[in-house]
Amino acid sequence: MTLAYASGKAILFGEHAVVYGRPAIAVPITEVQAQAIVEDAPSGQGIRIIAQDLHRDYLLRDAPPDDPLRVTVTNTLQHLHRALEQDITLTISSTIPVACGLGSGAAVATAVVRALARHFGHPLEADEVSDIVFETEKLHHGTPSGIDNTVIAFEKPVYFVRDQTLEVFKVSYPFLLAIADTGIASPTKIAVGDVRRAWQADPVKYEEIFDEIGTLTTMARQAIESGATEALGQLMDANQRLLRLLKVSSPELESLIAAAKQGGALGAKLSGGGRGGNMIALVTPQTKDRVSMMLRLAGAKSVITTEVH
Ligand code: PMV
Repeated sequence: MTLAYASGKAILFGEHAVVYGRPAIAVPITEVQAQAIVEDAPSGQGIRIIAQDLHRDYLLRDAPPDDPLRVTVTNTLQHLHRALEQDITLTISSTIPVACGLGSGAAVATAVVRALARHFGHPLEADEVSDIVFETEKLHHGTPSGIDNTVIAFEKPVYFVRDQTLEVFKVSYPFLLAIADTGIASPTKIAVGDVRRAWQADPVKYEEIFDEIGTLTTMARQAIESGATEALGQLMDANQRLLRLLKVSSPELESLIAAAKQGGALGAKLSGGGRGGNMIALVTPQTKDRVSMMLRLAGAKSVITTEVH
């Protein structure tokens, strides 16, 4: 039996603009995890997939060709130069809520790739894992930037620019985030598609917004590297204002953002595709309990506090 894990992630700055070549910052969130177990199975069984949280149990050969787990397993076995005719059972579970901007799809795929690679005695480098998971991400997202698979496969904070060499990010001054879930599914593919149509209709305006988000992201990196926490909070607020202009916020996200600010958060914004899913708030050891309470009172379905380091 071989077991592997992958963490969730949160985008701190630059979502959406990252699809258009601007930088984004993302960090792993180890409080939520996906898990994959590979076990040898009786001869002739084929590849059986048990997705516990989705209450699904099926054979890979019966799944549609675009089934994300089928695609992940097939691409991994090809990468490992293994035949598709294997007799194994793959059991998947996850504590990462689905479709809420914490990278559940990429984390499940990463755990699967890692478990298969170890099971066949061929552990892969993070960049190989990331490339395989990127192919699965295309099924979820349409035109993904690649940030989710990168931050999750590398398990480090990243400063990410599409199609450029990855910069792993050093957080010298750890800081605290409260992450709260609206409980509303965040349809990344739809939000990304809507932004694309709006950009096509008014490229000048949207390029300007993307530029401004890119500038904020670069400034945020400097703020993180120098431990300028107050400035970091203001940059989060400024990023949120621009995300509103991109029309990817929602009343539910706005009410959680307002509650966090009321509770004393230094800054707050949506995280990921938007419309629903999660928001993040920058808190301190002194404000974290109050902000978490305010978020719960404002209707958050769950609140995680995590240290970014
Ligand atoms: O919804 P999430 O957390 O998977 O993040 C999507 C981030 C976007 O920038 C909106 C899209 C992308 O592919 O980068």
